[in-house]
Parts: sequence; structure tokens; C-alpha cells
Amino acid sequence: MAARRDQDEGEAAGGGVAPAAEAVALRATAATAREERARAALAGRPLVLVGLMGAGKSTVGRRLAMRLGLPFRDADTEIEEAAGMSIPDIFEIYGEAHFRDGERRVIDRLLREGAIVLATGGGAFMDDATRRAVAESGVSVWLKADLDTLMRRVRKRTTRPLLQNPDPEGTMRALMERRYPVYATADVVVESHDGAHEEVVEAVVAALEAHLAIHPGDAP
Ligand code: S3P
Repeated sequence: MAARRDQDEGEAAGGGVAPAAEAVALRATAATAREERARAALAGRPLVLVGLMGAGKSTVGRRLAMRLGLPFRDADTEIEEAAGMSIPDIFEIYGEAHFRDGERRVIDRLLREGAIVLATGGGAFMDDATRRAVAESGVSVWLKADLDTLMRRVRKRTTRPLLQNPDPEGTMRALMERRYPVYATADVVVESHDGAHEEVVEAVVAALEAHLAIHPGDAP
């Protein structure tokens, strides 16, 4: 009997495909097909993530880019590289207006890269010129999160100059009031909750597919 069991196990491991593995493989194929469709429907346009600090733009963006097989760019990182200093230093030494000028220029350059996933800083989409440029050349996705989720996430870091004050929660609430009506003009809106980032990535792919089916880009 022992020999028979060994033989069975040997077959399962090396020969036929076990049902569970088959299901996983089928799911992976279906996912790949969906992402392939979403990427094709983007037709060479950048996918631009907007939303408040802590909404998950960089984390979700990086995973999304991997899933779609596109390069990922983070506008904040690119600004820091172009300036040769950190965002808190840019704010402190040159002021917010200077940072916004650099942000506008850097995003304008990144939008010309074509098919990428671009995570923007929370204030970028508030700039009229940037919003116009995104509307003309890309597809925008607002990662919408509630106050508790945002605060839970931003509390982990001290790298956001706008929140370095005695009442970061009050600041965040004021930013939500001012910015949410503008973020709401993005092409696609996806709730970013505190669950697994993969779930948000999944929701973005689904919402994107639905949006692009109605608003296809020009053929590449
Ligand atoms: C800002 C958000 C930050 C960064 C800068 C200003 C904002 O980016 O660009 O501190 O105005 O909301 P994240 O949204 O990636 O934190």
C-alpha cells in the first residue's frame, strides 16, 4: 500500500495538474486577460492616480503598474530627484509656491512619457494647468478614502510639511472639504479602504475597464 501511495503522490506532484492548482492557473489567466484589455484600452495614455495624502497612491500605483505591465512613476520622488532635495526641505527653504511650480513642470514632463502609472502628490490635481494636462493626455483615477483611514496612514510618517502642525486632523478635514469636489472630476473614482492593497488594485482595474469601455482612447 505504501508503494501505491508513493506512486499516487508522485503522479500528483509531477504528472497531472491538481484541481486547486488548475483553479489558480485559470484565475491567473483570467486576470491577465483583464489587465491586458485594460492596458490596451489605455492606448498609450498615462494612468494618473490622484487623491489626498495617505490615500495609497504610491502603494496602490506600484502594484497596479506591476499588474498592468507598465512603468511606475512617483511625482514626489521625481520632484525630489530634480531638485536634489527632500520635499520638506523644498517647502522650508523655498516655500510651497516654489514646490508647486516644480510639481507642475515635473508632472507635465511625466505625462509625455505615455503609458505609465503615475502617482501624483495630493495637491497636484488642484492645479488648473495640471488638471487640464491630465484630462488631455491621460486617464485619472481618484483614490477616495475617509478621514480615519487617511489619518491612520499619515500618522506613520513625518514627511508631509502640510501636516506638521498642532492639528493635522483639522488640516486633513479642511483639505477634504476643499479638494474632494475637485478630485471628484477625475475620470474614475475608487474607494481606498484599509483592507489589502490588492483589493484596491483589483477595484481600480475593474473600474478602469468599465470606464475605458465607454471612453476608449484612439487606437495606438
Ligand atoms: C501634498 C502631498 C504630498 C506632497 C506634498 C504636498 C499635498 O504628496 O506632494 O507634501 O499638497 O497634499 P502625497 O499625497 O503623496 O503625500
